[in-house]
Amino acid sequence: MKRDANQGYAALEQIAVNSPDLLKSLLEGSPDTISLSDVRHPDLPLTYVNPAFTRTTGYSPDEALGRNCRFLQGEDTNKDDVARIRKAINAREPVDVVLLNYKKSGEPFINALRMAPIFDSSGQLSAYLGIQQDITEERLRAERDIGQNRLEALGTATGSLAHQLNNLLHPVTSLISLHLSDIENADVRRDLEMAHYSAQQAADLSDNLLGLSRGSFREETDTTSLSDGLNRAIDLVRLMLPPTITIETAFGNLPKELNIPINETLFAQVLINIVTNASQATKHSGIIRIDVTQDEDSSVKISIADNGPGIPAELRKKVFTPFYSKSISKNSSGLGLSVASQIINKVGGKIIFGEGLIQPDGDGFGCMFTIDVPIIT
Ligand SMILES: Cc1cc2nc3c(=O)[nH]c(=O)nc-3n(C[C@H](O)[C@H](O)[C@H](O)COP(=O)(O)O)c2cc1C
Repeated sequence: MKRDANQGYAALEQIAVNSPDLLKSLLEGSPDTISLSDVRHPDLPLTYVNPAFTRTTGYSPDEALGRNCRFLQGEDTNKDDVARIRKAINAREPVDVVLLNYKKSGEPFINALRMAPIFDSSGQLSAYLGIQQDITEERLRAERDIGQNRLEALGTATGSLAHQLNNLLHPVTSLISLHLSDIENADVRRDLEMAHYSAQQAADLSDNLLGLSRGSFREETDTTSLSDGLNRAIDLVRLMLPPTITIETAFGNLPKELNIPINETLFAQVLINIVTNASQATKHSGIIRIDVTQDEDSSVKISIADNGPGIPAELRKKVFTPFYSKSISKNSSGLGLSVASQIINKVGGKIIFGEGLIQPDGDGFGCMFTIDVPIIT
C-alpha cells in the first residue's frame, strides 16, 4: 500500500504525543548526529544533541547545550562557509555546507553539515535542525583514489607517447646514418652528425619513458623496493615539473633489497604530492633536494627539501590539516599533504616537517618534509 508523506507525519505526531519514549529512542539511537536549537533566542542556543553528536564532536550534552554551535569552528574554518550558514538562517532556508570544524580534542574534521528550519503545523518556525557528519576519512580516501587513478592514467599515456615517438624517431636516425657517409661537404656532415646525435638522445629518452611506464606503479603488492620506487617516482615527477626546477638527489646506490611496506603507486603519490608542493612554493624555479638516510635497521628517512619561502613557525603545526594548503594556493585541493600523511601513517610511518634549504637571498630556510617509514627486514 502506498502511503503519502502526510500519513508519515501523522504517524510521527502520534509517536510524539503517545509514545515520547519511542521518539526519544529514535533520536538517541540514530547513527546520525541530531542537534536542535532554540529559535526563541536570537543566538540559536542548542537545546538538544543526541549521543551521535557527542561521538562525532567529543562534546557531551552538558558541554554543548545552551551554546551556539559555532563553538565547533576554529581558526581555519572558512569564513565564506559560515556566511552561507548565516544567510540561510536569516532567510529561514535549509542549507548544506561542507566546512572545517574542530572536535573537543582540537582535532580538525571535515563536517558535512545539513541544516533546516522546522516549522510547526501553523507555519511557525519552531526549531532549527542540524545534522553533522564527519566525512574526513571519506574525503581523504577519495582524494587518494583520484591521485592513484591519475598516476595510472599518466603511466598509460606516457607509454603510448613514448611508443609513437620511437616510431617517428626510428627513420630519422636510420636514414641519417645510412646517408651520412655519402656526404662530402664536411660542414654539412658535421651538422647532420649533430642532428643524428640529438635524434639518438631523443630516442634514448623515449626508451626510458617507455620503461618507466611499463615498470611503474603496480598495485598488486604492498611492498616497494625503495630504490626502484624512488627512482621511478622521481623520473615521473621530473616530467611533470617545468625544466626550470632543479631536482637534486643525494641517495647514491640504495641497496635493491631495501623494501618499504607500501605499494608503489601510493608511495609515488606521497612523493609527487610533496615535490609538487615544493615546486609551487619556489614558484617553479627553485631547488628541490631529495635525500635518503637509513636509521639503524628499522626505518628509513626520505627528506624532500626546497629553497622556497618556507612556512612561518606558528603555522607549521597546521600543514597536515585538511584544506590548509588551499588557503595558500588556489590550485591546490587542500588535501595533498593530509592524504600523504594519512598514507604514511597507515603503514606505521610519519611525515615530519622541518627547515629546508637556505633561500636564494641567504635570509631564511625553505621547507623540508621527511618521510619516515619502517623498512621490511
Ligand atoms: C542546529 C544548528 C546546528 C549547527 N551546527 C553547526 C555545526 O555543526 N558546525 C558549524 O560550524 N556551525 C553549525 N551551526 C551554525 C552556527 O551555529 C552559526 O549559526 C553560524 O556560525 C553562523 O552564525 P555566526 O556568523 O553568528 O557565527 C549550527 C547552527 C544550528 C542552528
